[in-house]
Amino acid sequence: MKRRGFVKLCASAVAGITASPELLARENQVYHRYGRVALVDSYSGKPVRAASLDVGEAYLFHYPYVSTPCFLIDLGKAVTSRSNLKTRDGERYRWQGGSGKKNSVVAFSAICAHKMSHPAPSVSFINYRHREVRFRNSNDEIEQRAGVIYCCSENSVYDPAHGGRVLGGPAPQPLASIELEYDPEQDIFYATATIGGEMFDRYFSNFHDRLVLQHGRTDIDHAMTGSTGLMRLSDYTNNQVGCQA
Ligand code: FES
Repeated sequence: MKRRGFVKLCASAVAGITASPELLARENQVYHRYGRVALVDSYSGKPVRAASLDVGEAYLFHYPYVSTPCFLIDLGKAVTSRSNLKTRDGERYRWQGGSGKKNSVVAFSAICAHKMSHPAPSVSFINYRHREVRFRNSNDEIEQRAGVIYCCSENSVYDPAHGGRVLGGPAPQPLASIELEYDPEQDIFYATATIGGEMFDRYFSNFHDRLVLQHGRTDIDHAMTGSTGLMRLSDYTNNQVGCQA
């Protein structure tokens, strides 16, 4: 069982949850069920409707803990193909594709899988790049591609249309993905789980003092419950570091 008594669901322990997560849990060695948390507008507190998301814009929310940032992105195209991925420890898992009416909305932990660079109000080295950028791919060749998550700390690049797989740079595993439950009647989302290689224990340990200061609380590993505020990354920080090869 992982930290703070939360339920870590592995393939053998999936009874009692809804059909879709059960299916996912069966497929995945690294499915971590947390609380079901509604995505709400940070300013109004109202649930965020999928139709209100701007395509290509990176939004930020915190899940599954109060200090762990995540990206929400409407990629603007349906992402229906599943991706078979592997953590640094060799655990295999399958990413379920996009969510929402058009299957175009994806969510990932915004903690870089290399040295855990992550968005903070003072600066973000990790960003979503909707327009084409150049980067060094895993074969050390220059590649140009639109729609990538780029960490400018040491140039790890991830593909949000394929489960956050690594396209280039030193990251040893994909970004952990956030499972989204979509309510089609209300056109809103809930975060329900993580799938993939979590790094939260190291994150809390490495950044403890700054996170306490930034969030104004000592229980930085407190679980999100009920709802979590969503805002544009550009509102969260006005210092997004851009780069390309
Ligand atoms: S921390 Fe992101 S590439 Fe090193």
